[in-house]
Amino acid sequence: MSETLELTVPDDAHLHLRDGDALRITVPATAKVFARAVVMPNLSSPVTTVADALDYRARILAAAGPGTAFDPRMALYLTDAMSSDEIQRAADSPHMVACKLYPQGATTNSEFGVADLEALYPVFEAMQAAHLPLLIHGEATDPDVDVFDREKVFIERSLEPISERFLELPIVFEHVTTSDAVEFVKSARAGVAATITPQHILMNRNDLFAGGLRPHHYCLPVLKRSSHQLAIQQAAISGNSRFFLGTDSAPHSKSSKERDCGCAGCFSAPAALPLYAEAFEQLGALERLEDFASRFAAEFYGWPLNDSTLSLSRKPWKVPERLDYAEGEQIVPYWAGRPLNWQL
Ligand code: DOR
Ligand code: ZN
Repeated sequence: MSETLELTVPDDAHLHLRDGDALRITVPATAKVFARAVVMPNLSSPVTTVADALDYRARILAAAGPGTAFDPRMALYLTDAMSSDEIQRAADSPHMVACKLYPQGATTNSEFGVADLEALYPVFEAMQAAHLPLLIHGEATDPDVDVFDREKVFIERSLEPISERFLELPIVFEHVTTSDAVEFVKSARAGVAATITPQHILMNRNDLFAGGLRPHHYCLPVLKRSSHQLAIQQAAISGNSRFFLGTDSAPHSKSSKERDCGCAGCFSAPAALPLYAEAFEQLGALERLEDFASRFAAEFYGWPLNDSTLSLSRKPWKVPERLDYAEGEQIVPYWAGRPLNWQL
């Protein structure tokens, strides 16, 4: 059994950092490990213009501290009012890498999201022309759709039509959770990829109810049954370059998760790489971790590989039960109080 694991420095292709005081906690948690991250734009006032995104990026860099090597790559939040001019501005900025589609009502701060997908087709046309990737929260929001079926229904009703109509549009199906999504991505046309979170590899929906209701395991798309977890695990370790690391680390304070109507999201950033290493080792595929974490996202986005390395050591530790968060609040990290074998 090897005791150290040397990897090209990884990238996080899907990350929520929030804003304001929270950046003091969220940015260093990621920047200490990842060279680049695709930063999600679902702030309470969403990032819908390139100007807003660049201001937000400056706040992130300020929180990372002087001389940081961390390079946040920004995504624009699509609304029904998005213009093709703004898409062009995004395509012209070296710091903008994508646009994010939240179906209205799908998740945190998605109330400004897209209500009418077909009305947005001219925007997809502009993105395709500019070769600007479309990142998708792939869940149908029709209230009649069972919450566990939302991803599958979204594939059938929305994703297949978009991917077949815009054949040159790069698409990332974010945080896939089902065998349906894995099958879709594997057999889709070129230019379709997916991110995979640590929680969807390590857990299934039983973990939401293990001995009681577990709000810190609640994220969206919600954890699925174990057969889907198995499909996600196999996709992650498959060596197929369409599947890459995106933590979806999504911080919410302890009090906002442990309440009557708790927020969705797992704050996985403090242990992200050790979590994936744990999962890959359990699955007997540690040698596949580096491509998944450090190569495939870069290839998809057309970035150079990071040129430095980091090493993980086999040194068992426990993820802290809680951490300080913004405005005097605390936060419970994903995997709190549980053991992990690898650390930086
Ligand atoms: O669990 C989630 N949390 N899923 C998302 O899609 C959004 C995220 C958040 O921003 O809190
Ligand atoms: Zn997300």
